[in-house]
Order: sequence, then C-alpha cells, then structure tokens
Amino acid sequence: MLSDRIATLVRSRLLLNSIYLIMRITRIAHTQQSQPKEDADLSLMKPLLIKYDHKPGSLIPLLQGTQELYGFLPSGAFKAISEATGIAPADIYGVATFYAQFRLSPVGKNIIKVCHGTACHVQNANAITDALKDHLGVNDGETTADGEFTLESVACLGCCSLAPVMMIGENTYGKLNGKSAVKILKEIKNQLCTNQPKAEK
Ligand code: FES
Repeated sequence: MLSDRIATLVRSRLLLNSIYLIMRITRIAHTQQSQPKEDADLSLMKPLLIKYDHKPGSLIPLLQGTQELYGFLPSGAFKAISEATGIAPADIYGVATFYAQFRLSPVGKNIIKVCHGTACHVQNANAITDALKDHLGVNDGETTADGEFTLESVACLGCCSLAPVMMIGENTYGKLNGKSAVKILKEIKNQLCTNQPKAEK
C-alpha cells in the first residue's frame, strides 16, 4: 500500500539522519578533545557580523572571515554566527567540519604541509609525515606545545614533478625523504632561535 511505502521511506530517512548526526558528533567530539584551550576575543567579529547580518548565503563568508581573524574557528564564534544567520550551531559545526579549509583549533606560527596527493603518496609521503611526527612529538593535524609548528597532511600542492613535497610557510621543498625533511625543519628551527630577540641583562 502507498501509505506503508511512505512510512517506510520516512523511517529510512530518519535512520539515515540519525546515523549522519552520530558520525558528525563523534568527529566533533574527537576534534575538540585534543585541542588546546582557546582564548579568542569575540568582539573582533562584530564588523563581520554586521556586514552579513541575516544575508542569504552568508554562512561560508562568515566562517571564512572568522577564520581570517583568528586563524581558526573559535568555539564561541558558532553561537555568534548562529545569531547572525538564524542557522542552528550544530548545523554550522556540520558545515565547518565538512570543508577541509576550516580549522577548529588554533594553529602554530609555522604550518608544515606535507603533500599526500597521488604523486607524493607513491613517492612515500607517509615516511615524511612519520619522521616529522616523531621529531615534533605531535600527530598529524596537531600543534607543538610551544605553538611554533602545526603539522598537516594536504592534497596536491601543485608541484608534482618535485614529489614528494612539503611546504613550510611560503617555501616549498621537494624530492624529500623523512631524513631530509627533518633536516630542513632543524635548520628552520635554528634560524628561528637565531632571529629571536636576546633577553636584556
Ligand atoms: S601530488 Fe604532491 S605536489 Fe602534486
């Protein structure tokens, strides 16, 4: 009967929604557990919120603008964006966690992007990430305790002929292996130490 079919369809839809929600909450909970404590001044968002106040299609620009301000999306920003758009915070989390461009945690001063696109993957990009993880004492996507470095795996960086590749800040390094990647990182660390202002006596 038609009514039975409709009831079955509704039940399937509800089941799918529940599964999706559980997956999303699990992902967010996992992300939040490993994040350092954040301390963002949300008043900086005011001009952005005024600019996009209840404008249709403003969610992505609001998330992008917020990330430009803080370098990531502070948890308090979701409530503010919800008020400016009328979209539930849980749905905003859903969008923010769906797109790889958005970050839910503060990043280090220097972002190390290790390419895991196809060309780099077949040239053993995993060995680079593993060596950097060991050297820095962080997992992929995490930031060192001193806030200096964030390690992340990314898709193609657009210079496949140099595979395997990593970027640190604006600089690209190619034809790497685990050892050479760590060597480059050590040189950058030394450079940072040299450039640090000396404490006055
Ligand atoms: S796959 Fe790594 S740069 Fe293209």
